[in-house]
Amino acid sequence: MSATSTDRILNFSAGPAVMPEPVLDQIREDVWNIDGSGIGVLEHSHRGPVIDRIFDDALERTRRLAGVGDDHEVLFLQGGASMQFGMIPMNFLPEGGIADYPDTGTWTSKAIKEARKFGEVNVAFAGSDCNYDHCPSNEELSLTDGAAYLHYCSNNTIYGTRYATPPSTTAPLVCDTSSEMFARPWPFADHAMVYAGAQKNLGPSGVALVIIRRDFMESAGRETIDMLDYRKHAKAGSRLNTPPVFGVYAMNLVMAWIEEQGGLPAMADHNDAKAGVIYDAIDGSGGFYRGHAKSCCRSTMNVTFRLPSEDLEKAFVEQAGAEGMSGLKGHRSVGGIRASIYNAFPAAGCDTLASFMADFASKNG
Ligand SMILES: Cc1ncc(COP(=O)(O)O)c(C=O)c1O
Repeated sequence: MSATSTDRILNFSAGPAVMPEPVLDQIREDVWNIDGSGIGVLEHSHRGPVIDRIFDDALERTRRLAGVGDDHEVLFLQGGASMQFGMIPMNFLPEGGIADYPDTGTWTSKAIKEARKFGEVNVAFAGSDCNYDHCPSNEELSLTDGAAYLHYCSNNTIYGTRYATPPSTTAPLVCDTSSEMFARPWPFADHAMVYAGAQKNLGPSGVALVIIRRDFMESAGRETIDMLDYRKHAKAGSRLNTPPVFGVYAMNLVMAWIEEQGGLPAMADHNDAKAGVIYDAIDGSGGFYRGHAKSCCRSTMNVTFRLPSEDLEKAFVEQAGAEGMSGLKGHRSVGGIRASIYNAFPAAGCDTLASFMADFASKNG
């Protein structure tokens, strides 16, 4: 048990979010003095041997967890996942080209908006027609012949939906996996590019992890400033300028923790079991709780549901807060309740929420 765990509450926040306690303990030590160097991690030059070691470790861990080899570059970039919304079309959507974007929620809508600044977008699935309650099957996708790429979001943080498998297309696949990076095995090597803002499943905010296939990266067309050019970042080993050292350092520790837990298959089992407890509480409530996501597409990271009225939702959040459960209010665009239960969220916390839900339903149903 960590030195602090007794004064910590259950953090259901969508991000920044809960981190593994052993990682927090390690950070506490390393901020003072890392690797016996006599200097804390926040104070080291980004071009010295300690930070070299961290970047090399983080790169190798990413490759191992993702199951990708040397034909993929691993980059640590700034600007969050939102910067990728713009960098992707800027680099890969050529003049006169068209890219496929299934729209499955707020984040893909934002990605579409940014892509339209550079070229044509085919909205390959209009999720707004079904209030974003599922991700499309392959039959529901209307794809473009010769699309420059297909961009999708594997887990929709706000609506609580996820794809069971990546969309099937002949175009290069680009995936925003911000809210479930390394939460389950995923065919990363089949993608031209995968990216994630770190602040949900990988560590603190301030860094985006990008895994990009070299030939796709080299196909970038438009000339742009160096900081928005993947090739320049790759050539400089993600140190084109002063990089987000702390974010990369913490992400490396989180990835080491994932490996210690048994890697992605173990993470997936753990996440299925945790989410299952809350979905059972929804399904067993006789209709008091209504899940937002269709059962085909239920996220194991963000569980979203409604109560019979907004007043009850407010009371639910308040009473849960009083019992040490924070961050349960749904995103302002959908309302209701959202329990974000990323990799590091403890199973016991899901049990606590499920029994609170049963109790609340029996008192208010
Ligand atoms: C799926 C998804 N994509 C993108 C973003 C935007 O991330 P950032 O704040 O790192 O730009 C988020 C943030 O919540 C997200 O959940």
